[in-house]
Amino acid sequence: MPKNYHSFREEKYSHRQAALAQEMLKTDLSAIAINPGASLTYLTGTHFHLSERPVITLFMPNSKPVFVLPELEVGKTDTLPFEAQVYTYGEEPTNWSGVFRQAILEAEIGNGKIGIESRRMRVFEFRFLEESAPQTQFTDAGGLLSNLRMYKDQDEVLAIRKAVNIAQQALADTRSVIKVGTTEREIAAELTIQLLRHGSESEFPFSPIVQSGPNSANPHATPSDRKLEWGDLLVIDWGARYDGYISDITRTFAIGGVDDQLAHIAQVVLDANCAARRAARPGISAADVDRAARDVIKASGYGEFFIHRTGHGIGMEGHEAPYIRAGNEMVLKPDMTFTIEPGVYLPGRGGVRIEDDVLISECGLESLTDLPRKLEIIAA
Ligand code: CO
Ligand code: CO
Repeated sequence: MPKNYHSFREEKYSHRQAALAQEMLKTDLSAIAINPGASLTYLTGTHFHLSERPVITLFMPNSKPVFVLPELEVGKTDTLPFEAQVYTYGEEPTNWSGVFRQAILEAEIGNGKIGIESRRMRVFEFRFLEESAPQTQFTDAGGLLSNLRMYKDQDEVLAIRKAVNIAQQALADTRSVIKVGTTEREIAAELTIQLLRHGSESEFPFSPIVQSGPNSANPHATPSDRKLEWGDLLVIDWGARYDGYISDITRTFAIGGVDDQLAHIAQVVLDANCAARRAARPGISAADVDRAARDVIKASGYGEFFIHRTGHGIGMEGHEAPYIRAGNEMVLKPDMTFTIEPGVYLPGRGGVRIEDDVLISECGLESLTDLPRKLEIIAA
């Protein structure tokens, strides 16, 4: 390990915790209590699973983080690149409350407000917090954390780039099995193997989605035993994870050839994808990017068949801010990463989706994905 590695890591997490402290001071929070998940990993570099044993980390604006965790997990705090206070408990659940109480007491939160991530926090951990701090008010601090995580630093962008490249290479090596007679499940299986082979972490952002023919009109189906037929549209939505960060890509193919209407919606979705990528840049709102895609599809007469938002943020999670949807006036800024994924779905016939992973740069947008987008006919 290079000598400066430790100090670099130290800087990264201390920097993130300092940014969190600043936000807490602005919003009058005495502490933020986080349970295992992406935000905890983001702030500490450690990874805990949700289990039947409660794990909580408390962050205060002016003191070191406090961990409450089972004894068997304490090893993970030995190598933390920052100072922390650690409280552990054994296997006897009746003692856990006491440990939580002591931790909260010594964190000197007093009667202040504690922020939690309401989308992530379980009733399980929340009960221990509530019991230990009966005078305390709890409030949702999810927005505060997602605002920090929304701006990616260089390392994070590099990891996402790598996750994109792994996914793109995996699809390239899956292409040979895509032909008439292959089932959706067989294609998904091959793609899964290729993702691992090309270096994805085994915890994929989601299982590959492979939908053919009429199934492709359902944006969230799971791969079935349906065999590819001549004239099918084939939608593949897949992603890799590298160093904790994910990619999320969709491409649509035609098997042998498709009829004029399906070829037309493929062109409409491509135009919508281009329009959204052209619109997205610093200073433009998320809603404007959604509108750019939606207007193209509406103008073609297929507006009612574009049944989801245009995109979502990507980072440690597949669904995070910024959400690219109507009504979200959040202004895009450099270092945000998200998807652009318009689609048109004709029930009973077929669907098309083209999903790219993009980065807002100082002056515009960079697409991290560069696979061809035009409907490609795979020889049957
Ligand atoms: Co996707
Ligand atoms: Co997506």
